[in-house]
Amino acid sequence: MDEYTFKNARILVVGGAGFVGSNLVLKLLEEEPSEVLVVDNLLSSEACNVPEAPNVRHVCGSITDDAVLRSLPDDLDFAFHLACYHGNQSSIADPLADHENNTLTTLKLFERLKDLKNLRKVVYAAAGCAVAEKTYDDAVATTEDAPVSLFHDSPYSISKLIGEMYGNYYHRAHGLPFVKARFQNVYGPREILGAGRWRGTPHTVWRNVTPTFVWKSLSREALPLENEGRSSRDFIYVEDMARGLMGCALAGKPSETYNLASGRETTIAELAVAINTATGNPTPVNLLPARDWDRSGKRFGSTEKAKAELGFEARVEISEGIPLLVQWTRENQDLIKTCMERHAPFLAK
Ligand SMILES: NC(=O)c1ccc[n+]([C@@H]2O[C@H](COP(=O)([O-])OP(=O)(O)OC[C@H]3O[C@@H](n4cnc5c(N)ncnc54)[C@H](O)[C@@H]3O)[C@@H](O)[C@H]2O)c1
Repeated sequence: MDEYTFKNARILVVGGAGFVGSNLVLKLLEEEPSEVLVVDNLLSSEACNVPEAPNVRHVCGSITDDAVLRSLPDDLDFAFHLACYHGNQSSIADPLADHENNTLTTLKLFERLKDLKNLRKVVYAAAGCAVAEKTYDDAVATTEDAPVSLFHDSPYSISKLIGEMYGNYYHRAHGLPFVKARFQNVYGPREILGAGRWRGTPHTVWRNVTPTFVWKSLSREALPLENEGRSSRDFIYVEDMARGLMGCALAGKPSETYNLASGRETTIAELAVAINTATGNPTPVNLLPARDWDRSGKRFGSTEKAKAELGFEARVEISEGIPLLVQWTRENQDLIKTCMERHAPFLAK
C-alpha cells in the first residue's frame, strides 16, 4: 500500500465550518499541511468556527456553485466531503433544500474531482443511521456489509445513501479514490446550537440530543426523554471521529466502507444521567412518547473492520467526553445563546 501523509498536502474540507468539519481541520493542522481549503456556505454553521491559521482558507459559498467548483485547485491531495443539509427533521420539512445541499453537493463535487491527477483519497461522511436495522429488541452491532433498505424515514437519510452510491459509481467509472466513513452519533465541542440559517424546524436550534441535553441541563431544565429514553445510540467523541476520518484518508481502501464508531451502546436515559451528573442538574427527567417519524430504536456500530484495516479505535469514553463538552459549552455560552436567539422569531410562529 502507498504511504500517504498530510504533511505539505493540499486538502479540501467541504463543510469545514461545521461541527465535525472544524474539528477535522484542527486535527489536520497538527500534521502541517501546506493548505486546508474549506468550502462552506454557512447553512448550518458559523464563520467563526473555521479554525484560524495562515494555511487555512475559507471559501464562503456552496459546493454546488460552478464558480466555486472551477476555483478549486487541480493539485488537491485529499478531499473530505462533510457538507449536508442538517438534519433529519429539516430535510422532512424541506426535501428540495435537502436535495440541493445533501445530494447535488455530492454529485457536483465528485464530477469536479473525478479527473484530478494528484488526488490520493476522497473521504465521504456517510451516516450509520441510514443502514442500521430498525429494532427495539436487543441491537446487534451494525457491520459495513449490512443490507440497506429502500424505505427511509427522511430525505436526509436517502441523500446520505445516494452519496455513497454516487461515490461508488465515480470510483468504478472514473477511478475516484473514494472511501466511505460511516458515522455513528458524534458529540463534543464546536457543535453550536442554532448555528447557521433557519431550516424550517426547531431542530435548527436543537440540533442533536447531546448538545441539547447539555444546554438544558446547564439551565437546570428537565431533560425530555422521548420514548422514555429506551432508544440507544453509539456515541463517539468528535476528536476520535476526526482521527478516524484521517485514518480513512491515509489507509482506507478506495470503494471500501468503514464504520467510525465507539462500538458501545448507550441508551438516551443513560446519556441523560451522565450529562446531569456532569452539570450537577438536580431536576428529574421528563418521560415522553416516541417521535412519530423515528423508528430507529436501538443501534451501535461494529468497530472490527476499522480496527483491523485502519488501526482505528475510539479512545474517549462517554464519562470523559461529556465533561469536556460541558466545559466547552460553559466557555462558549454567549456565542451559543446569540446563535439560538437569532431564530427566536421563527420559533415563535
Ligand atoms: N454529527 C453526527 O452525528 C453525524 C452522524 C452521521 C453523519 N454525519 C455527517 O457528517 C457530516 C458533518 O456533520 P456535522 O454534524 O458536522 O454537521 P454540520 O451541519 O455542523 O456540518 C455540515 C456543514 O456543511 C455545510 N454545508 C451545507 N450545505 C453546503 C453546501 N451546499 N456547500 C458547502 N457547505 C455546505 C454547513 O454549513 C455545515 O458547516 C454531514 O455530512 C453529516 O451528514 C454526522
